[in-house]
Amino acid sequence: MISQRELIWRKAKSGIVLGVTGTVAFGGIGVWSGNEKFFEQFIAPILTFVDPEWSHRAAVNLARFHLQKRGILDDPPNLRANLGPLEVPNPIGIAAGFDKNAECISGLRRTGYGWVEIGSVTPIPQEGNAKPRVFRLPQDKAVLNRYGFNNDGHEQVYSRVQQFKSEHPGYIVGVNLGANKDSSNRISDYCKGIERFSDTADYFVINISSPNTPNLRDLQKSETLPELLQNVMLTRDSQTRRVPVFLKVAPDITDADIKSISKIVLSKETKVDGIIISNTTIKRDNLESDAKLTQESGGLSGKPLERTSTFLVAKFYSELKGQVPIIGVGGIWDGKDAFAKIQAGASAVQIYSVVAYKGLGVVNAMKKELSEILK
Ligand SMILES: Cc1cc2nc3c(=O)[nH]c(=O)nc-3n(C[C@H](O)[C@H](O)[C@H](O)COP(=O)(O)O)c2cc1C
Repeated sequence: MISQRELIWRKAKSGIVLGVTGTVAFGGIGVWSGNEKFFEQFIAPILTFVDPEWSHRAAVNLARFHLQKRGILDDPPNLRANLGPLEVPNPIGIAAGFDKNAECISGLRRTGYGWVEIGSVTPIPQEGNAKPRVFRLPQDKAVLNRYGFNNDGHEQVYSRVQQFKSEHPGYIVGVNLGANKDSSNRISDYCKGIERFSDTADYFVINISSPNTPNLRDLQKSETLPELLQNVMLTRDSQTRRVPVFLKVAPDITDADIKSISKIVLSKETKVDGIIISNTTIKRDNLESDAKLTQESGGLSGKPLERTSTFLVAKFYSELKGQVPIIGVGGIWDGKDAFAKIQAGASAVQIYSVVAYKGLGVVNAMKKELSEILK
């Protein structure tokens, strides 16, 4: 005979199992559907209790194993765009730092991104900084990170990019290059990247704007940038394939820096094929989140970066006068934000932080809105 207590316990247990299964199924279907409203309302609040680095890994794995509904792949013709000499089906790419190791390019393509930028990747694999090193700031719609170029290194990442490109030769994959923290010659690290990837990358990004590798941003200075770019261009031009080179800049620069960088990237010997504006900021202006969080060291991205990066796009555009194409990135949350970057002078845009709040599928809603605006 089952006692009354046992009966109640059994009923409670099956209730709990049903509840948990229902929640997991509900959440699973929601994540799979890629619906950004569902993600924002139900998944993002749960994620505030989850380690942000764990959720980043989970998102990479979802894309890697195609555990997301296929997005819009036949983009309307009015979304076609150019990244310098390269043509993309839509102007929204995923920014560097999401797929650092080229593990899920295929899933990102399938989700609807116009192109993928992998990396930053360094010659030798490295662990990056100690954990915790990524923080979510929901009150500010922001992310703070100090990953410090954790990546699998050139060799492993190269074989993954090559594998993907052999299956989808027409889909654009950019390789964002970084330098090893302990490198004795950082300029040579970028050149090694060009040598390693030049038979497979569609474009390179010289990333000298990460705030998480000590003194890396010094390479942006007018005393060092020409030497870096001269070496990069010589290496690029000595390869069989001429791969476009883009420069990615930090948002924490002065008007004088904008002028000097523009002059350098327009000069014959150091002319780049595009400029990406911008990386994360070290500034912490007007934030609502708890000071314990905002005082963490690292680069801030998301909404607090939006205005600064859009202004920078406009300032660079007026210096470069259309001679160097611009990719705008920083705080883009919807199609209107993407359009604001385009109006400021960008030929295309990239997104990252919004994915932490609206899921990877957000690109599809953005494309729809942008296409309507452009009509
Ligand atoms: C967690 C995280 C890691 C990042 N890692 C890199 C990186 O390895 N290389 C790089 O060039 N940019 C990196 N970025 C910067 C982004 O590519 C982008 O420039 C920046 O986040 C601004 O865009 P957003 O406001 O849409 O996030 C990273 C950003 C985040 C949030």
